[in-house]
Amino acid sequence: MIQLSRFLIFFFIIVFWLLLGCKNSEKVNAEVDESKAMGLSDAFVDDFYMGVAVNGRLIDGVDSLGTSLLKREFNSITPENIMKWMYIHPEEDGFDFQMSDKYVAMGQRDSSFIVGHTLVWHSQLADWVEEVSDSTEMVEVLRHHINAIMGRYKGKIQSWDVVNEALNEDGTLRESVFLKTIGPQYLDLAFRLASEVDPDAQLTYNDYNLTAADKRKGAISIVKNLKSRGIKIDVVGMQGHWNLKGPTLEEIEQSIVDYYNAGVKVAITELDITVLPNPWDLEGAEVSQNFEGDEKMNPFPQSLPDSVEQQLASRYKSIFQLFLKHREKIDRVTFWGIQDGASWLNGWPIRNRTNYPLLFDRNYSPKAAYHEVMGLKK
Ligand code: G3I
Repeated sequence: MIQLSRFLIFFFIIVFWLLLGCKNSEKVNAEVDESKAMGLSDAFVDDFYMGVAVNGRLIDGVDSLGTSLLKREFNSITPENIMKWMYIHPEEDGFDFQMSDKYVAMGQRDSSFIVGHTLVWHSQLADWVEEVSDSTEMVEVLRHHINAIMGRYKGKIQSWDVVNEALNEDGTLRESVFLKTIGPQYLDLAFRLASEVDPDAQLTYNDYNLTAADKRKGAISIVKNLKSRGIKIDVVGMQGHWNLKGPTLEEIEQSIVDYYNAGVKVAITELDITVLPNPWDLEGAEVSQNFEGDEKMNPFPQSLPDSVEQQLASRYKSIFQLFLKHREKIDRVTFWGIQDGASWLNGWPIRNRTNYPLLFDRNYSPKAAYHEVMGLKK
């Protein structure tokens, strides 16, 4: 009898132990599954937002693979085109909020950090704005534009590219219609109006080539001038349209440090790395020359050779190592497109090429560059 009860106790201990073992291995499996589903934004959650530019197809919900990728990998969105002046404010008294409403709803659905791009930009303007020639009238145009758009999304869009690409390469202000009519104070006006409409929104000055010394000085003086007049500016957006070699890591690092020291955070707002030759890299080439259809300028029409794939991966790795080193200065890193096939770089500066500038390929699969970037967090 005693032997039987000993046997039963032993038997139950073994069964219990086996069940526990199974439960634990289930937990391990669950963890493995979870880590499989982990995306960029989870991996970098303690560092900065991981964002992506969304095009009309994503906003309309017709790119279902893109939507799944977006949900898995990114926690911030920027509208690639639909909030630009010519689309959202095409007539003086006519706004078209159809796509921007959908965009904001999509960001809210995913609990994304939502960016507005862009309020004041000389490009993709509506024709009627180009015709304004009087300072008082242009002040009113800006007031109406900023009040209407920011007002509609107050508390919903968390960050705004208030002024985009106001600088020439030498750091002076570009001769835009805003500069011509209002003068340099249009920057003060835009940032002041923006801070009045939504005092809690993050306000950004956004531009390309901001790693170049002269342009960097120009951007720093924009920041300092605004701050010296008590006008809110929170972030300098370095667009990040880079290539395999340039800008150098030293230039990128120095720029991040310089902007931060000027009293703002940095966002990498439009990151992509072209792997194709550009007209201005060719000695003696005319930028206006038509290279469309030129095979030398479109060397990888079918697929990217392994050697270039590896160069791209190691370039992304070293850039993200740098971002992590300066993580307290960086608020967000946004890729300019969801996958290679959706990149504007297939059509610029030469139309109809096949470029590979992002972390996901045309099948929405992660590339070597993605694994290198994720590898930094393992
Ligand atoms: O929607 C029309 C379509 O109806 C028409 O058939 C087609 C014919 O060309 O054009 C389509 O519009 C294009 C639009 O992208 C949407 O695809 C425009 O031609 C084209 O010029 C426009 O390019 C955009 C570019 O800004 C315009 O300046 C790119 O997609 C967009 O990626 C790019 O983004 C800018 C940032 O906003 C600011 N920083 C630089 C960055 C790269 O240029």
